[in-house]
Amino acid sequence: MKTLIIANWKCNLLTAKSAEELFKLLNKGLRKIRKAEIVVCPSFIYLPKLSELLLRRKKTRIRLGAQNCFWEGKGSYTGEVSPIMLKNLGCKYIIVGHSERRKFLNETNQMINRKVQAILSFGLIPILCIGETKEDKEKGKISIVLRSQIENALKKVSKKEIGKIVFAYEPRWAIGTGKACSSDEACVARLLIQKIIAQKYSQPTAKKIQILYGGSVNSANVASFVKDAGFQGVLVGSASLDPNEFAKIVKEL
Ligand code: PGA
Repeated sequence: MKTLIIANWKCNLLTAKSAEELFKLLNKGLRKIRKAEIVVCPSFIYLPKLSELLLRRKKTRIRLGAQNCFWEGKGSYTGEVSPIMLKNLGCKYIIVGHSERRKFLNETNQMINRKVQAILSFGLIPILCIGETKEDKEKGKISIVLRSQIENALKKVSKKEIGKIVFAYEPRWAIGTGKACSSDEACVARLLIQKIIAQKYSQPTAKKIQILYGGSVNSANVASFVKDAGFQGVLVGSASLDPNEFAKIVKEL
């Protein structure tokens, strides 16, 4: 299983030129990387340009991902973006259920489930984000919240399909706060996710799934998640906007 490092640019980089420049700098800093697969997830509107740039760089380790998609392939859905459109642009991955979408767009577990099913049906890889809020944590509800998010997001997802999903454990209180989860806490959550998958599918299936950590990842803490807590990669927000820091994160693995 390849280590995955996802760069989630979110709604940053306000011009196509700045997105292109950052992409070129990231690519330059990552030229010698062989061990990991790097997935850059820009805003939708920058995907065509970045896809064109990628086609010119045959040896790159960078792949493209989207930050969201709709759950239907096509039709009368004003303002939405179809997973097929993203596939046709060269995307391999789609982030789904990010906590910012759950919070600001009221994305529900049911909507997330429909998106997961659609992404899988069109041959793309969902990066399914799950994680508790600060309040859930304080009330000792981490396990209940993770179980509900996972079970609902995976309705009608077969045993064969589950192996294609990448899970991203992202405690909400650690996102964009500079206060990452401790590697011990993250490790407990990772084991919990595996247990939930084992109960729903099987023990061997649970052992094979890829789980990433996300939430204030930087070059100083990335090894504690991947090397100590057993995650098979990370989802990086703010630090992915700094090409030097991002290259350092990748080199730590
Ligand atoms: P952060 O964002 O690295 O800025 O905390 C992570 C994320 O939202 O996925």
